[in-house]
Amino acid sequence: MIFLGLASNYSARDIWRHSFTLGSRRDYRRLELALASRYGATLANTSLVFSGRTAIYLALQSFIESGRLKPGDHVALNAFTCHAVVEAIRRAKLTPVFVDLAPRSPDYSAAALAEKCQQDKRLRAFILQNTFGNPVDIAAFEAVKRQYGLLLLEDLAHCAGRHYPDGREIGTVGEAACLSFGKGKAIDTIHGGAVLLRDPTLRLPKTFDKSAFCRRQHTGGDPPRASWYPLFGAIARGLAHLHLEKPWLWLLLKLHWIERSADTKLRTDKTITVWQAKLALRQLAHLPDKPLREYYLIDHRDECLKHLRQKGYRLEEFWYEVPVAPTRYYTDVHFPEKDCKNAVFFAAHVINLPTWYHDKKHQKQIADARKLIKTYEVR
Ligand SMILES: Cc1ncc(COP(=O)(O)O)c(C=O)c1O
Repeated sequence: MIFLGLASNYSARDIWRHSFTLGSRRDYRRLELALASRYGATLANTSLVFSGRTAIYLALQSFIESGRLKPGDHVALNAFTCHAVVEAIRRAKLTPVFVDLAPRSPDYSAAALAEKCQQDKRLRAFILQNTFGNPVDIAAFEAVKRQYGLLLLEDLAHCAGRHYPDGREIGTVGEAACLSFGKGKAIDTIHGGAVLLRDPTLRLPKTFDKSAFCRRQHTGGDPPRASWYPLFGAIARGLAHLHLEKPWLWLLLKLHWIERSADTKLRTDKTITVWQAKLALRQLAHLPDKPLREYYLIDHRDECLKHLRQKGYRLEEFWYEVPVAPTRYYTDVHFPEKDCKNAVFFAAHVINLPTWYHDKKHQKQIADARKLIKTYEVR
């Protein structure tokens, strides 16, 4: 069977490692050092945090505290994203401004950003997410950034380890870079993230005492269940052969032993554990430079997914089923569908394939799925 979840590729050894890794304060520190040096930030401006959305919130808050943004200012973001990004912008008391996707692309273009800047004089910052790990034309964005004096936050949730067309690593261009270590991300420790302020004139928010925060948190644990996720996932995949994975996942959710990925919290009072830092450090050193997911735009998606399911593919959890996912939070976002027609179209037609199956047998299965998907492709 083929699944979209990254952990479906874990070997028994990976599952064991995830469940039983022990870490120390040194691992926590080493991860901060490795990130700081990779992305060009000082150690004082680098912090591990509880989630990707916490990282985005802290970066935006530091833009405000440095006087580079004012509360209420507008921040441009992709019109095809996770509500976590909107949550972080709103928590910083800034206003999200969705920029529609370029036709049949999962990201907005530099030209669309320039157009927004002309219409919206309060637009002061933009977030690039390089959806699925597909790099945008960064040189064109830098020209718009210079012309309008914008701040750039690079959201690496989908694209850690990837490079822009001009060879620079994603995360080494903007004033801030934010990572998510959430489920299915390039670095996956179930939850977690990191904020890096690359501009040396910036400081982490005053209310966020990184050192006290570290001391207080990194010896303590988060709920031990985070370490059991890959094991729970492996059981779910085993049960999928008997069509029993849904009751299993339902039970885990009821017991609060797992939570849905999109429900990770934005919290500044907690960080990751030392064992998560150790796992993340290991994954950081082995980041593959390839997209996180393949994407196709297809017609009759339900029929296609049903067809794929009958053949043993579980591809229902594609990114994203609505322009700002998940569906259960979509109405709260008040997404401007009329202004973002390309994003609405994209979300209604997208389907993903995983990119991390390496062995011949699975690669053949992926090739077969690709062939089937292509028969549904939008012309
Ligand atoms: C593009 C993007 N940015 C940021 C996040 C936030 O990540 P987290 O769940 O770690 O807060 C997500 C989550 O899925 C995402 O898809």
